[in-house]
Amino acid sequence: MSKKIGILNSGGDCPGLNAVIASIVKLGVTMDYEFVGFERGWEGVLDPPMYMKLDSESVKGISYLGGTILKTTSKGRFAGKVGEGNTNKIPVDILGQAKRNLDDLGVEGLIVIGGDGTLSAAMQLAEHGVNIIGVPKTIDNDLNATDKTFGYSTAVSVAVDALDKIHTTATSHERTFIVECMGRGAGWITLSAGLAGGANAILLPEFDFSVDDLISHMRSRLKNQNRSTIIAIAEGARVNGSSVHAHSDHKEVRYAGVSEVLMNEIEDTSPGEFELRNVILGHTQRGGNPNAEDRTLAKRYGVAVMDAYHNGEFGKMVAVKDNEMRLCPIEEAVEEIKLVSEYVHEYTVAQRLGIFIH
Ligand code: F6P
Repeated sequence: MSKKIGILNSGGDCPGLNAVIASIVKLGVTMDYEFVGFERGWEGVLDPPMYMKLDSESVKGISYLGGTILKTTSKGRFAGKVGEGNTNKIPVDILGQAKRNLDDLGVEGLIVIGGDGTLSAAMQLAEHGVNIIGVPKTIDNDLNATDKTFGYSTAVSVAVDALDKIHTTATSHERTFIVECMGRGAGWITLSAGLAGGANAILLPEFDFSVDDLISHMRSRLKNQNRSTIIAIAEGARVNGSSVHAHSDHKEVRYAGVSEVLMNEIEDTSPGEFELRNVILGHTQRGGNPNAEDRTLAKRYGVAVMDAYHNGEFGKMVAVKDNEMRLCPIEEAVEEIKLVSEYVHEYTVAQRLGIFIH
């Protein structure tokens, strides 16, 4: 009899999820496995279970599509994190309910695709005796255990495309634009997009900057006849020492509006000197179809995790190091966030090119 594997994705969606799911199933059926896909994240394994049978037919033609055929949620009874760095202890009865449902469905093990919150929850379920292997997922590219997560490259492309468009209108109107990119507490998307998209200032959560210094930079650009300025700012950047966030209903930190705060701060400090506009790119960076790089990376993750499952490498997560697929304990993925430092190549290149980067 074939063994049954459950596939589950949870947390924010990410371009490339469908390509991972399709690759797992396409390879797995040739190894005589059966699959069920749990729907709406961890909620799918709880009462009442929500799942769909996955086979070669149901995953046909989905790899190039953004989003996830399994739907997802970052809320619910199984939230593995509350706020950054805080692990949420999932109640024992909820973990028990998930284990019971998996047993009743004859599911031998789970492949869990998620970021640090989802993988923290996965670890707790693994301690309850469930066979679990993880696949990292986040557009933020901030998991220390892996060099690259799928979805990141697409998010950067979206942001670069937006910056290209902003350039033309900023030039015609001789305006200063502040463009806000996603990434939570990590500046990777903003750094790569800002550099590729020709931003004149790049502001990251990892560093402090002074609004006065930024204004001096804008003035020196004016002196040199550069009458428009593009500022790429990460949503988690701090203006005068504070980040700007709201709390959503499930208490996870949600960033919103730092570009507007900075715009008001510049206007208050130098009234009328610059004509300012802000643009928040938001979820456009997570939507749409994955680009070629992310599709390929997602397929590599899919094949690697299926092989790892077949070899019984439970409690581990697939990762990329130096362009090789490898396995690491799931703990490594949730322990530490990968942040931009002043030694990162893109950061030093931006500095050498005279970009105001902090
Ligand atoms: O972690 C991925 C991410 O897209 C962040 O860059 C962003 O801050 C957050 O998720 C947005 O989450 P939500 O979809 O819950 O608003």
